[in-house]
Amino acid sequence: MTDLVIDLSHRDSVRVADKALKTAARLWFLVAVIGQWIFVYYVMFFYGAAAAQGDSEALRQIPGDSAGNFAMAMHLILAVIIMVGGPLQLVLGAIISGDGPRQLTPQIQTRVRSVHYWNGRIYLLTAVATSIAGLYMIWTRGTVGGAVGEIGISLDAVLIIICAAMVLRYALAREIVTHRRWALRLFMVVSAVWFFRVGLWLWVFLTGGIGVDFKTFTGPFLTFLFFAQYLLPLAVLELYIRTQDRAGAFGKFAMAAGLFVLTAFMGVGIFAAATMSWLPRL
Ligand code: HEM
Repeated sequence: MTDLVIDLSHRDSVRVADKALKTAARLWFLVAVIGQWIFVYYVMFFYGAAAAQGDSEALRQIPGDSAGNFAMAMHLILAVIIMVGGPLQLVLGAIISGDGPRQLTPQIQTRVRSVHYWNGRIYLLTAVATSIAGLYMIWTRGTVGGAVGEIGISLDAVLIIICAAMVLRYALAREIVTHRRWALRLFMVVSAVWFFRVGLWLWVFLTGGIGVDFKTFTGPFLTFLFFAQYLLPLAVLELYIRTQDRAGAFGKFAMAAGLFVLTAFMGVGIFAAATMSWLPRL
């Protein structure tokens, strides 16, 4: 009898811990999507206004470099598509796997599947094309931050291409659990440029920008961030996946608490980036 009571209360606490972890992950995702869409808003209006006014300097158009100019324009257009389509794709995937509203009619289920299928193909293609355009710009024009920045973001491009290939591979093999994991990894590496901005402005907000030289866009903190922009989110994701799979109630509560704290910092970073960098430029 006591064994049964202990067993039941143990199962109850694991169930509550599962729920806490799911809630923390959903809140993290919601805040990240809101932050990404504020960035999308800035990109559309800032570069849209520059295009309307023919401001080629703001659009990074270099006279005579038509391939580089084309890559930059494509990069910006595709970036917007990715940052809108990526979160949508994860939500559609969750609905198909039964992790969304329960009472969906079979017709709606079929619809969701078909949008997931098409949006997924567009998402994978745009992620790879944006990365190739980015690589082309980096290695023909260079970018801010010097060699360390160029190597850091180039590695991100390679990771995006690898993750996109794995997402497609496991979708075609119908191995949905593995497909989902690679889709989450892809979301993290695709979001690296956004994490970079949120991380940078969070740091400026908290410390005033220790280890950042804004004139040369170099410094110890930036060296860290050029790699942490994707390695840190990937590491937290792996920890989350392992906790979800194997941890007991305590581990799940700890992970949920950690995610709440990270979400709070991310929220401050979004606020700082939006008010100190994106919105003032519009
Ligand atoms: C796939 C996700 C990516 C998204 C959503 C994205 C988004 C953007 C955006 C919005 C800008 C404009 C900068 C701003 O106004 O803040 C930009 C610029 C740029 N991006 Fe990306 N990007 C991505 C991946 C990459 C990758 C993988 C590379 C390099 C391999 C790259 C290289 C560049 C370069 C060189 C610029 C121009 C920066 C400059 O003016 O020097 N991007 N990107």
